[in-house]
Amino acid sequence: MNILHLDCSPRRESHSRQLSAAIVRRILEVAPDATIRRRDFASAPLPHASSDYATTLSSPVTLAAPLKGALELSETLIHEVEAADVIVIGTPMNNLTVPSVLKAWIDQILRAGRTFMSTPAGKVGMLKDRPVLIGIASGGTFTGDRANQPDFLTPYLSVVLGSIGLKAVQFLSVQATAFLNADQATQARDKALAALDLKSITEDYRALEKS
Ligand SMILES: Cc1cc2nc3c(=O)[nH]c(=O)nc-3n(C[C@H](O)[C@H](O)[C@H](O)COP(=O)(O)O)c2cc1C
Repeated sequence: MNILHLDCSPRRESHSRQLSAAIVRRILEVAPDATIRRRDFASAPLPHASSDYATTLSSPVTLAAPLKGALELSETLIHEVEAADVIVIGTPMNNLTVPSVLKAWIDQILRAGRTFMSTPAGKVGMLKDRPVLIGIASGGTFTGDRANQPDFLTPYLSVVLGSIGLKAVQFLSVQATAFLNADQATQARDKALAALDLKSITEDYRALEKS
């Protein structure tokens, strides 16, 4: 079993990093010999879309004849997704949505004719579905009665990942981090983890063991 583990926070002692690490530990309890492909977008950020990449993506004509090397990074990142049985993402909420380092990854993995088909009814995913477990940290609150801001993060990630075929997305969150002391943060993380559903991963791992 292969885990693709992505982190986005620029802070080392970060709530979303701790949450994503805890999710990975839970998966390793189920699949102890899983391999981990790691990307830390804070210490090694991806570049924004280059001119050659944007030009190649600009029409079906240029997509059919890509500029030399323009799709290399995109291909590498898509291969990592394809090789993963489960994807774990740790991300802060930044200005109500994803941080730009995560958006840079999204801009490379959504590609017409490669990870989605463009149809009159919208994008149709071309990748095999697999669990995507997303650990979010937010300084304020974005769910429930105490929400004090709109949430453009979870609906956005659901739609973009769904558009390439990744529909089994779970969100866990530690919210109001601005107001949590260390003990409260641990409690909030444990509470978030209690909602983690690893049933499909457990079943996949058992099937892999048998094969
Ligand atoms: C640029 C920036 C924008 C932020 N925007 C929001 C926001 O819109 N909503 C919110 O609840 N918290 C916001 N925060 C606070 C972070 O989400 C919060 O500190 C979170 O714990 C950061 O994740 P981390 O602990 O994994 O580093 C923002 C922080 C930064 C640096």
